[in-house]
Amino acid sequence: QNHRGQATPITVTITGAGGQIGYAAMFRIASGAMFGPDQPVALRLLEIPQGVKGAEGAALELTDCAFPLLTSVDIATEPAQGFDGANVALLIGSRPRTAGMERADLLAANGAIFGPQGRAINDHAADDVRVLVVGNPANTNALIAQRNAPDVPAERFTALTRLDHNRAVGLLAEHAGAAVAEVSGVTIWGNHSTTQYPDLSHARIGDRAALDVVGADWGRGAYIDRVANRGAEIIEVRGGSSVASAANAAIDHVRDWVLGTAGSGGGSDDAAPWTSVSLYSTGAYGVPDGLIASVPARSVGGQWQVVEGLEIDEFSRSRIDASVAELAAERDQVSELGLI
Ligand code: NAD
Ligand code: LMR
Repeated sequence: QNHRGQATPITVTITGAGGQIGYAAMFRIASGAMFGPDQPVALRLLEIPQGVKGAEGAALELTDCAFPLLTSVDIATEPAQGFDGANVALLIGSRPRTAGMERADLLAANGAIFGPQGRAINDHAADDVRVLVVGNPANTNALIAQRNAPDVPAERFTALTRLDHNRAVGLLAEHAGAAVAEVSGVTIWGNHSTTQYPDLSHARIGDRAALDVVGADWGRGAYIDRVANRGAEIIEVRGGSSVASAANAAIDHVRDWVLGTAGSGGGSDDAAPWTSVSLYSTGAYGVPDGLIASVPARSVGGQWQVVEGLEIDEFSRSRIDASVAELAAERDQVSELGLI
């Protein structure tokens, strides 16, 4: 607490802060959507020189919002400065996928950004730093950053699959004519890519099994394709990749991480709701050690815990294995490029 009795600000570094998702995220973070109405926030905006004007303009607008919780805004172009003292690092800055481009094309283009940023986080961030990678290919970018930050506990590096999770919940509720609040037990497994597996095996709508409500034909067919290709659908319809929903998911992810999974009351009992997070694997559900893959997880006491003991049937097993195999192949590719 400071002399006015306010809590110490949490320092949030946003990379790519001059871009679209950064812009959509920072005002909500400054307004208290990430850490609640009593927690001050200091923002650090990290950009490359071409993006600095965008970040500077956003900083002017932040001043003009007169957010009571926002204690400072600093703009940096050097990772060492941008991550100095960061408690939360949102790695958003990279190149968005454009029409017709597959994520594999992005590996080489974006991989080189995340090594230096991982090293800067290792050397300059706060001891409790929590890292969320949004920039695509998010899981593999997170892996690159993590491998370049040997002094930071590996589990602090996460990638965003909360957007896929929220899509999966939203589309299920829409199809079933149910309220979003009635949906639970949805899981996104694997990679933030078209191989991801949105799994309804354990999902419920109210007190009914979701697959009984919507039918396995749809729930294990068209639904999976719709969720997995939603990013491309948005690109096609909007003419650009998702922005506000991505920023929203990043805020949901960090808020749950720090404050506990929404709706769980901080609990981790079997009935407590879970979400989907791309976490550093220690082998759960057959995901090879060290890959950053999406799993069902709850946050308890500020740490993610993989939901244990879910039964995985044959269909789920093959879907999970396929997406995890893609992650392993991406890891091998960046390894060959000398990025990890
Ligand atoms: P954008 O092009 O509007 O903004 C990206 C910004 O990053 C630009 O301002 C650019 O100057 C900056 N940047 C580039 N390299 C940088 C670096 N080394 N350091 C700091 N800043 C850097 O893109 P956007 O729409 O904000 O999307 C950002 C990323 O998020 C893209 O990779 C996109 O594919 C990804 N994305 C991920 C998800 C997800 O669910 N994981 C969802 C939507 C978008
Ligand atoms: C998304 O899921 O909306 C983003 O990852 C953009 C994309 O390339 O699909």
